[in-house]
Amino acid sequence: MIVDINAARAAAEQSIANASTIDELRQLDTELLGKKSPLALLKNGLGKLPTVDEKKEAGQALNEAMSAVEFTLAQRRALLGRAERNVQLSAEALDLTEHFAAPGRGKSHIVTQAWQRLEDVFVGLGFQVAEGPEVETDWYNFEALNMPPSHPARSMHDTFYVDHGQPGSTVLRTHTSPVQIRVMQNVAPPIYMIMPGRVFRNETTDATHLAVFHQIEGLVIDRGITLADLAGTIEAFTQAFFGAGFTSRLRPSYFPFTEPSAEFDIRTPKGDWLELGGCGMVHPNVLRAGGLDPEEWSGFAFGFGIDRMAKERHGVGDVREMYTNDIRFIEQF
Ligand code: PHE
Repeated sequence: MIVDINAARAAAEQSIANASTIDELRQLDTELLGKKSPLALLKNGLGKLPTVDEKKEAGQALNEAMSAVEFTLAQRRALLGRAERNVQLSAEALDLTEHFAAPGRGKSHIVTQAWQRLEDVFVGLGFQVAEGPEVETDWYNFEALNMPPSHPARSMHDTFYVDHGQPGSTVLRTHTSPVQIRVMQNVAPPIYMIMPGRVFRNETTDATHLAVFHQIEGLVIDRGITLADLAGTIEAFTQAFFGAGFTSRLRPSYFPFTEPSAEFDIRTPKGDWLELGGCGMVHPNVLRAGGLDPEEWSGFAFGFGIDRMAKERHGVGDVREMYTNDIRFIEQF
């Protein structure tokens, strides 16, 4: 009987191995393990065996054979299942290549790129970033910055006025300097902040001027800040932003809100000087407008154009090109 059991088991395992579909396996399940299967028939014959020991031995062999067949079936079912799924998956796969390729991937505008790089460099130097409103009061944009209504420097800022409140009391900010005042009013010193943003000047646009452009302002307020700190910060920024071969210089100048004031230039490795922006020691009247005591605190400020940086960095001939949104231009950067 043991011989018959082993033979039935081997035959069953062979037919499982030959099965090539899940359907065939389903059929084999009944054929090999059902009531009329060879193993089941052998089991029915157990009672006819002469001795208890023989019954026991054959019974064990039958149980082993049945679980072995069950196991082989399950294994084969899993294998064929995976194969059938793979066939189905590849048959039903959708080719979306064309769909993904069509719209193209966007990227940041060169002015945004310059803005972000500037922030990165200043954050690396220990500055925090602040922003202020684009629509300002005359007080923040001019008066608090030491430009009372009669001040001649106001005429340097061709101002857009907003029809709101008293005539002439609301403006589109002409520079980012009003954010200095807002920061001083809201943050207790020491202050090490940069303030990027959009500014507006009522002037005719040409290759080097825009009516809407971007500036980044820097403000440092602490105890015992001197002009040497200003010059050192401009130099550290120049090397961090442009690279080790670049250097900077300050040239005496005038701004109502700083005293002394300077323009700062950078020198390229080729030796050309490029005018970058304005800076100076914060005027005592400006500190007072910001609610700070000039006897206790001193500081410096600087400001320059972001669009300008993008223009120089990428050798753009005409700044207006940066805003016509011609995709052939934008795509290049
Ligand atoms: N606000 C000045 C401008 O727009 C630049 C500047 C900022 C100068 C800070 C000095 C200090 O021209």
